[in-house]
Amino acid sequence: MLKFAIIGFGGLGKLHFGHVAEIKRKAGDVELVAICDVNENAFRTQTSTNLGENKQDLELSKYHLYTDAAELLEKEELDFVVTALPTYIHEKIAVMAMERGIHVFSEKPMALNLAQAEHMLETAREYKVKLMIGQCLRYFHDYAALKEIITSQRYGGVVRADFHRLSPLPVWSWQNWMLDEEKSGGAALDLHVHDVDFIYWAFGMPKAVTSYATNGKMKHDSIGTVYHYDGMQVTAIGEWGLPGSFTFTVGALVRFEKATVKLAADGLTVYPEEGEARKLELTPANGYVEEIVDFIACIREDKESAVNPPESSVKAIRIARAEKLSADTGKTIALELCGAQSAV
Ligand SMILES: NC(=O)c1ccc[n+]([C@@H]2O[C@H](COP(=O)([O-])OP(=O)(O)OC[C@H]3O[C@@H](n4cnc5c(N)ncnc54)[C@H](O)[C@@H]3O)[C@@H](O)[C@H]2O)c1
Repeated sequence: MLKFAIIGFGGLGKLHFGHVAEIKRKAGDVELVAICDVNENAFRTQTSTNLGENKQDLELSKYHLYTDAAELLEKEELDFVVTALPTYIHEKIAVMAMERGIHVFSEKPMALNLAQAEHMLETAREYKVKLMIGQCLRYFHDYAALKEIITSQRYGGVVRADFHRLSPLPVWSWQNWMLDEEKSGGAALDLHVHDVDFIYWAFGMPKAVTSYATNGKMKHDSIGTVYHYDGMQVTAIGEWGLPGSFTFTVGALVRFEKATVKLAADGLTVYPEEGEARKLELTPANGYVEEIVDFIACIREDKESAVNPPESSVKAIRIARAEKLSADTGKTIALELCGAQSAV
């Protein structure tokens, strides 16, 4: 049996908690034994995210509760932890757990900068533990199907692709850490990193990025990027500064040589160059469950994830940091020049 703990019991920690029964049903013998949050109130109150208000049952009496992650790691015998913490402490807590031989599933973005992300990866290698970052899009049926359509070239090559992720200003985080660009990385690293990771997964490393950002309600409350690839145009917008009344919206439009494919709330629709539009029949998958089920399989079978290896998450940080640099300097940033500098 694999024992695990959730560290960080805000919006995403509670979302993962709400999936424990389904994870157990799909992944077999796993047991949540403990939960940690520095803020005791988190054990009693619901927390929101841009995915909507959590409605989890907060009956926690059967779990060991901690307010100090170091104490939790010291006292509990854990096989893995699921961490859903403010981004500026992702590296610290992940490294602390991995140095104890504990496998780590850490929420996205991997870290604030490339140096932190690489340190996490090196630690996983050194201590021979599994590390996975919650780049959940890879496990949602619609994005996974879109990636398959792109790589199989079923409708020919990509002519242009556009991605968007539009959110109200995130006013719901603990101590408002999301609104502090130095702690969250702003829209580029937090929200938009989902599309950055998808773009890297589907198209590989761009040659360069040209980005623009807005600094209206906080530094980098939106970012828009042109990704430079040979023979196709790829663009994305991550918008984090919208009014509270705006409903969180995500989507993509990919124009291929022989068809255009739209990803929206109602699923994937194919618009062939000739003939009628048709909706693709997909088996729904909850990416938040599937990513952790895959992570558990990696621990059990001592293998790397074929879907979401941590090396790709490092690449997503590298691209997102280059986008921020481009937005700040007004320059196009070549990715091969972005190496392992912590500033990038
Ligand atoms: N995968 C997704 O779709 C998705 C969606 C939203 C957020 N996230 C990510 O999840 C992470 C957490 O975001 P959130 O929305 O849950 O934020 P949040 O502010 O709601 O929750 C963070 C929690 O961590 C706790 N915390 C802070 N420092 C701690 C420490 N040292 N030890 C233990 N607990 C501590 C806080 O008290 C808070 O309850 C972020 O990295 C965010 O980017 C992912």
